[in-house]
Amino acid sequence: MTGWKDKRKVMQRYDVTAEMYDERYAWEQKAKYKKALENVNVDGATVLDVGCGSGLFFSQVASQADMVVGVDVSRKLLLKAKEQTRAFQNAFVLQADADHLPFRDKIFEAVFAFTVLQNMPKPAQTLEELKRVVKFGGRVVVTGLKKAFPLDLFMDVLENSGLKLAAFLDDEAVNCYVAVLAA
Ligand SMILES: C[S@@+](CC[C@H](N)C(=O)[O-])C[C@H]1O[C@@H](n2cnc3c(N)ncnc32)[C@H](O)[C@@H]1O
Repeated sequence: MTGWKDKRKVMQRYDVTAEMYDERYAWEQKAKYKKALENVNVDGATVLDVGCGSGLFFSQVASQADMVVGVDVSRKLLLKAKEQTRAFQNAFVLQADADHLPFRDKIFEAVFAFTVLQNMPKPAQTLEELKRVVKFGGRVVVTGLKKAFPLDLFMDVLENSGLKLAAFLDDEAVNCYVAVLAA
């Protein structure tokens, strides 16, 4: 598994901070969801939330989507995400690495990864994996944490992905760039 030592450290860090995650980050994550959903239609879609954390995104999409699947490496955050799924019949979670998604090719209409790429040893490789599971005509949304990604590096990752940039949102008040890519 690529960079598994580093990934394990990341996983442990999120496990340790899981209890305070929502209190600390919910408001800023919700600003990113809003930007993304202004540009992606999830009505009736099969949605994948990669690095779903505590499942904050589920409540924003589950009522419109056909199905929402969240994956994450942090067991503690996933337990929180599992609690979120109880409010919906169509939301599911599983533990998996973003670089090795346990899904067949081209099965999701919309794939989201909010504030995840900065944790990945090779963001371009991760984006390749997101691209693998999205259907033709679907959307991949990734965000680039501004303090971790110089803009040119983030743009390079997007441009080399082979996906088409459909929208790029850079709001001063949001700590991530939000990129919507068309498959
Ligand atoms: C900043 S949090 C964002 C969580 C969530 N997307 C949100 O909007 O609140 C980053 C998430 O990425 C997850 N993550 C880190 N490395 C990962 C990997 N290799 N595979 C899957 N998830 C990973 C972390 O466990 C954490 O939940």
